[in-house]
Formats: sequence, C-alpha cells, structure tokens
Amino acid sequence: MLAPTLVSLFLATGLVAGLPQPAAELVEHERAALVPNSWHLVRSATADDILTLRIAVKEHRKVDENHILARSDPNSPLYGKYLGADELNALLADSTSTDARQASWDKVERWIHQQNIPITRESSRGFEIQVPASQAESLFGAKFSYYTRDGDNKPVARTEAYSLPLGLRDDIDFVYPTIHFFDSARSRVAESKVERRQHFPTGPFDCSKYVCPVNLTEKYHIDYVPETASASKLSVAGFLEQYADHEDWKSFLAQFGLPKFGLGNEATQATYNVVNVNGAENKDSADQAQIEAQLDMEFSTAFTGPLNVTYHLPGNKPRPIEQNNQEPYLEYLDYLLALPEADMPQVVSISYTDDEQSVPLSYANQVCDRFSYLALRGVSVLVASGDAGTQGTTFSDCKGPDGENRFIPTFPASCPWVTTVGAATNWDGAAGYTAGGFSNYFTQPAWQKDAVAKYLASGETGIPENPYFAYNASGRGYPDVTLLGSDYLVLNQGRLTPSKGTSASTPVVAAMITLLNDIRLKKGMPVLGFLNPLLYAADVAEAGFQDITQSNINGCSTRDHQQAGFKATTGWDAASGLGAPDFAKLRKLLT
Ligand SMILES: *[C@@H]1O[C@H](CO)[C@@H](O)[C@H](O)[C@H]1NC(C)=O
Ligand SMILES: *[C@@H]1O[C@H](CO)[C@@H](O)[C@H](O)[C@H]1NC(C)=O
Ligand SMILES: *[C@@H]1O[C@H](CO)[C@@H](O)[C@H](O)[C@H]1NC(C)=O
Repeated sequence: MLAPTLVSLFLATGLVAGLPQPAAELVEHERAALVPNSWHLVRSATADDILTLRIAVKEHRKVDENHILARSDPNSPLYGKYLGADELNALLADSTSTDARQASWDKVERWIHQQNIPITRESSRGFEIQVPASQAESLFGAKFSYYTRDGDNKPVARTEAYSLPLGLRDDIDFVYPTIHFFDSARSRVAESKVERRQHFPTGPFDCSKYVCPVNLTEKYHIDYVPETASASKLSVAGFLEQYADHEDWKSFLAQFGLPKFGLGNEATQATYNVVNVNGAENKDSADQAQIEAQLDMEFSTAFTGPLNVTYHLPGNKPRPIEQNNQEPYLEYLDYLLALPEADMPQVVSISYTDDEQSVPLSYANQVCDRFSYLALRGVSVLVASGDAGTQGTTFSDCKGPDGENRFIPTFPASCPWVTTVGAATNWDGAAGYTAGGFSNYFTQPAWQKDAVAKYLASGETGIPENPYFAYNASGRGYPDVTLLGSDYLVLNQGRLTPSKGTSASTPVVAAMITLLNDIRLKKGMPVLGFLNPLLYAADVAEAGFQDITQSNINGCSTRDHQQAGFKATTGWDAASGLGAPDFAKLRKLLT
C-alpha cells in the first residue's frame, strides 16, 4: 500500500510552491446505448458518496481462434485435446503483447497514485479504487446518479457516459460499474399462468398435467441413469443473490425423482455442493430460496444422480456501499478458468440474460473472450436465450441505440462461444416467449454460416422482406438448441409452482450434456467441450435432434399491431435453433 499522507503532503507542497496542476484532457470513452426502461433514476450522487470502481487495464491480447476451434472440431486431430490451467495461462501469455500490457499497467497504476486514490484491490484484470463521487466525476468527466432496477430496490450509482484522460485511452479497457445498466429481468422463470395465449393446464399439481423430470426422460429419450459418479461435473451459476434450499430440493426429488418412476435406484441419489466464489453468502433456507435457483437444482440433479453438481454463487464480499451492484460474470468465469483440471466442471449452466445493447461492447467482449477460454479448457457452456421473443429479455419497445426499430438480441446468448438454449411449448412448437435472433456485436461464426444462410433464403423466416424492424443477418444467430420450457413443476418455499422460461430448458440440456460426458469418460473418451461445431456438423444436426418446425416467436409491436417474430422451420431457424436434442440419438452418435 502506498502512504496516502505522504502523497497528499507532496501535492499540497506542490500547490504551495505554485506548481501548475494541468487538468488532464478528457476524451469520451464509453456512453450507454440507452438506459433500459426497467431502471429508474432516484437522485444525483452527492459529493462525498464513496464509489467503488474497477479499472480494467487493456489486455493487449489476441488469441488465435484456430487454436480454440481445432480443439472443438470433430474433424481436427486436436479435437478433445483440452488445456489445463497452466497451459491456458501459457497460451494467453503467448497471445499477449506483454510489453504493451506492462506499460499500460504501470501507466494506469502511476496515474491512480498521482490522483492520491487508494487502491482497494488488485486483480489480474486491473485495479479497484474507492473515491468520493465528486472526485470520480472530475476524473472521468462523468455525472453519477443513483438508480433502482425493477424488482430490486437497492439504488446503485451509474453514469450515462464517462471519459478518460487522453493519454490513457489506449491503456484502459473500461471502468466498471459506470454505464453498466444491466437489466434486472434476467431469464427469470415466470409462473406459467402469465402466458395467456398458450395452453395452460388446470387441475392438481402433479405429473399427469405438468412436466416432471420423468416426462422429460420420455420426451427426449434420456435413457441413461448413472449408477456411479465419474469425473463428469456440472456447475450451475447462481447470480443475483438467488439461493436454493436443500430441504425443498430433497423433498422434490423424493416426490418426482426418477427412482420414484422405476428409473435408477437409491444409489443414484443426487447431492449438490454450494461454492461461494468470492465471499458471497449462501442463505440455504426455505424462506430465502428463490424459484430460479430451486428450478435449476431440481431439474438438473434429477437427471445427473450421483454426478458432481455444484451451485456456484459468484458475488462480492459484503461492502458498506453498493453491495449489490457487482456484475458477477467476470468473477465467476475467472474463478472457473483458474480451477485445476480435477475440479473443473466440464458443463456450465447459466440462466441469466441481458439485452445485448444494455451490456457495453467492451464488457461483452471480455466476457465472451472468457467463454472462448473455457472452450479451450473443454467446457460446454449452456446459456438461456431469454424470455421475450425478438424483444430480448423482457417486454420492450424494440428501439435500438439510435431510437430505430430493431429486434433486441440478448447476451451472453449472442456470444459465439456458448451454446444458447431456447424453449418450446405444448411439447412441439417454439414458445412465443423464447428469444431468438442475431447479434449486433458478434459476427456469424463459420460453423453456423451454412445453416443460417439456408434459413434466411428459405422464405420462411416469418419476417417480411422489408422488415419493419431491423435485424443483423450477418451476426451470430441463436438459439442453438431448444427444449420444452413450459409447465415445469417446481417445489419452492414448500409450494409446487408451475413455471416456464428458457431458464427451465437450460439446466435440462446441461444435465443431458453432463450425462453424455459421463458415458464418454467411463469409456476413456474426452468430454465434449465447446459444443457448437459438433452440433452443427451435418451428421449430428440431422440425426441428433427432434426438429422443431412450428410457431413463430413473439415479435415487436407497431402502433397498430403485434408483429410476428422469427418462425420455426425445418432445420436451423432463429426460433428454435437446430431443434431439441434427443438424448438417445446423441448418445449413439457421440459416445
Ligand atoms: C408424465 O409422466 C407420467 C409418468 O409416466 C405420466 O403418467 C404423465 O401422463 C406424463 N405427463 C404428461 C403431461 O405427459
Ligand atoms: C465435487 O467436486 C468438487 C470439486 O472437485 C469437490 O470439491 C467436491 O467435494 C465434490 N463433491 C462431491 C460430493 O464429490
Ligand atoms: C451488425 O453486426 C456486425 C457484427 O456481425 C457489427 O459489426 C455491426 O455493427 C452490426 N450492425 C449494427 C447496425 O448493429
């Protein structure tokens, strides 16, 4: 730690001696595309509010995509040869311009010291500082205010734009949290009854009308229950202080677990661990449990039985100010990337989604890069596509950054290095709510080009030739796969609740991949790793899925009427991706 008194003494002396303090010339660095409707301004920051900011130093790194793709391409001799933590670090070091990185690091650190700001934390990404709002505003040419998000009444400080000193703009990637208006309505499960236009069963909450694990085993031919554990592991990400309750979970499996239906036996009883990534507090009790977490644990472990499942709670140590404002993606991904091989979960399930345009490009790039590093380590990442059709994660007016009419893609669903999961309803068509479309940030990767081109040329996209709403046909298309996502029975806070959402389908697909990995490991084969090149390869795309060919996802509304969104068709489409994975078929093809 530096000695702040010394520095301030020096500065004070400088002032007394009349040395000029040149005001650094500031240049705007980032501006929020928009403040989402779900964020509400509460008040301006007052001068002495203490803000905690993280300065991400530019990485000066470019990993050759071919290194990653070779390990995920079934036709490459490198397929399945994944990297350990040390090997990954060596590759990242080789891909980094180390001198430029060090120079940036030193410059940023020196600048912080010169401002007489204490560094409260240092990580591989950069520095955390705590500054009074008045100082933050002059350093970054910003105007901080407090905002609340729908469903969360703790105000957090944000600014709509910020600047950097001219001399540092090539050394700092971004300052966080500043323009980060992530939406609160992640792919949060909704109780089924809100979906009025689709069928809604009534009657007792049991498996005859609703979806229990056994119904998914029947529909998707999950014909395998592991009898013993293996190295196959699953991580379920629990963001936003969502807690799961072991008691409800146990009681759910006792009532609806597979042994109850003659599949598997007592020995296949599931367990799960909870790991707090960064000092997050786990409140494992019925009254703190939330349906999102409960759904994830109930509908993953029901299938994986004795395999190792961990609920990862990324978060920050409680802080006096703004404890709730830290976006956990980078924390969680850096934690996973550093795990030794024996502890690495080879499948990750993430049911949280933001509108892509509410995630600044600089931040989205860092997160997406880290998903590509997970691909190098042999991890399959399953991400929920979102729950508002072409409107993105939540009901919106479909306005792009310049106020233009535009479909709203979702992130991290739009990152090419994850496998994005949509939802089907009524056991066959794409669900109206399921999100699909094309990224405005990430270009279309080679492995999906043919599939997407065929869809766009099919004349069956459901979107008129001169669409009222723009979409970016050259972007990464999603979802990749789809599975039933409606009418799931979830036991939460002692109550059975019918639930729906891409949050429901995602953990089930993750469990299916965890099972395939288990079979492969028991046969001495490598785990599946980054899935997309494999899934889009013609033989698997044609023979491994139950194609979903019906229904449009919800579109955006013009003044007069609700437009239809993308339509499901034969083969890949932007409503249902490749269709629903059929476990028995994939097992035959891949194990
Ligand atoms: C779910 O599976 C159970 C047991 O096989 C069956 O009795 C029930 O009809 C199925 N429910 C649905 C909605 O298909
Ligand atoms: C699951 O794996 C983690 C990481 O290797 C380990 O810490 C934990 O003890 C394992 N849990 C069980 C139940 O085996
Ligand atoms: C369309 O996507 C590409 C990346 O594929 C991006 O560079 C471009 O800015 C996007 N266009 C718009 C209008 O967002």
